[in-house]
Amino acid sequence: MSFYRGRRLRSNAVIRNLIKETTLHKEDLIYPVFVVEGTGIRNEISSLPGNYHYSCDRLHEVVDEMNAAGVKACLLFGIPDHKDEVGSEAYHDHGVVQNAIRTIKAYCPDMYVIGDVCMCEYTSHGHCGILDECGYVKNDETLKYLQKIAVSYAKAGIDMIAPSDMMDGHIQALRSALDEAGYETLPIMGYSAKYASAYYGPFREAAHSAPSFGDRKTYQMDYHNGKEAMREIAADIEEGADIIMVKPAMAYLDVIKEASETFNMPLCAYQVSGEFAMLKMAVTNGLMNPSVIEESLIAIKRAGADMIITYFALEVARGL
Ligand code: PBG
Ligand code: ZN
Repeated sequence: MSFYRGRRLRSNAVIRNLIKETTLHKEDLIYPVFVVEGTGIRNEISSLPGNYHYSCDRLHEVVDEMNAAGVKACLLFGIPDHKDEVGSEAYHDHGVVQNAIRTIKAYCPDMYVIGDVCMCEYTSHGHCGILDECGYVKNDETLKYLQKIAVSYAKAGIDMIAPSDMMDGHIQALRSALDEAGYETLPIMGYSAKYASAYYGPFREAAHSAPSFGDRKTYQMDYHNGKEAMREIAADIEEGADIIMVKPAMAYLDVIKEASETFNMPLCAYQVSGEFAMLKMAVTNGLMNPSVIEESLIAIKRAGADMIITYFALEVARGL
């Protein structure tokens, strides 16, 4: 008899562990944290069960939970009370994210704080940049605002910035603004291949950032395209990104895989809100075993991601 006996190496957990190709560590996980204005707030986000809106004075609670779970990096999103055409709260030195950065770093200096840089949570129209009279997002004009946001985060003590706006030339613009302000050691994680995706639905509800008209297809990528993602990533690297990202993750494993094989760069994948919601609902309703969550994260790592941003970070880390 000669055929492949793959089962020889599956007979018990010891040998399965010995030949295991992919592992997930707490150190691979980044937890998104939503900060709101006001005081005394820790409200569960209905579209992201088990995740909360925190006001600054209660942020220490999520930091404690992260430390207890062994998750040492967070990605901050701010939801301001006041929105306007140019998203001025985004670059206010005492804006909601700037205050959150100072609060977290004062409470726990070794918590690694990453700031999402974008305008959609701050603009009255919900788009990721500055609009012209026709409602088109003006690329180069937007860059100036993104620079102000990044520098204000840097002044507040951020550890890394992660621009999610998908404007052309944004990495170069942010790198030069940070360097000029004396922050040449502050790293940038580019949301390099970010697709215009229906998987962002629960996030937009959580962050009150849905566009009031139209969609994001003139700046985010078209999900029919994979090769284009390689061009976007190459551009980000050329412009000075320190880490590249593919977003969403589970429906874009081909893109993660190709990026990991094409570029010798640290690679992040964002398991976005809609991916979280699908799995969460299936598990909560008893349709799937909770192990599906770890399975999904392993798949993302197997495709080549070094790190994963996920709303499951705390619950998964507790189980590792
Ligand atoms: C803001 C931003 C979005 C997400 C991260 N940063 C939403 C969007 O682009 O509309 C999505 C995150 C998620 O769905 O979990 N530009
Ligand atoms: Zn945005």
